[in-house]
Amino acid sequence: MNLLKHVAIIMDGNGRWGLKNKNSRNAGHKAGLKTVEKIIKATIRNKIKHLTLYAFSTENWKRPKKEITYLFDLLENFLISRIEELHKQNIRLKVIGIKNFSTKLNNLLSKSEKRTSKNTKLQINLALNYGSKFELINAFKNLKKNKDKITEKNISKYLLTKNIPDPDLLIRTGDTKRLSNFLLWQLAYSEIFFEKKLWPDFNEKDYIKIIKKFKNIKRNFGNI
Ligand code: FPP
Repeated sequence: MNLLKHVAIIMDGNGRWGLKNKNSRNAGHKAGLKTVEKIIKATIRNKIKHLTLYAFSTENWKRPKKEITYLFDLLENFLISRIEELHKQNIRLKVIGIKNFSTKLNNLLSKSEKRTSKNTKLQINLALNYGSKFELINAFKNLKKNKDKITEKNISKYLLTKNIPDPDLLIRTGDTKRLSNFLLWQLAYSEIFFEKKLWPDFNEKDYIKIIKKFKNIKRNFGNI
């Protein structure tokens, strides 16, 4: 049975769910947040140490301002109302991405990271304003600046995911099969599951089904 230390998720399908069910993309994001809460609980129950959630990509800035504002408001309210509870549950929150949001959100994110920095039960890596190509270019620039040798270990050291093990499992909901500039280096050997359901419809049962399948895969890592 494979050990499962790190699950990464591309939470796709909020917009379509919202339009289909409530005639508004933003309603889909609101419903998507409820799924986030359910999946966090299930991740703890399954003793998984890292959960990385793709919440906002560097490409998502192309969306209408109204939707971007709604997403950040949702995140702000989530942090304000939930961070103490997450802290009490021994959960660490870490942002992977560049924090160039409003001063209020930037401060809130930094405060939440600091408050939970010593927690050990589960680390939630929130990919926010994250783009893998940007991350890699930045890593190579730092490598060059510090005259470090180009090795796998050194490249990993300059990524935003420094000290985070590579994901064992990637799940993408929303019936779309692409990586969308997410963890391109880190996913080199991850098992990938594409799920038809839209993110707000995804539930613990679906998650457990994927985890069970993952655990039984013969992972060769290039060997036989
Ligand atoms: C992708 O669906 C989803 C996002 C870009 C945002 C993800 C945000 C949440 C799940 C809720 C907020 C989360 C936190 C942690 C506060 P999409 O809008 O691209 O869906 P579509 O493909 O149907 O358009």
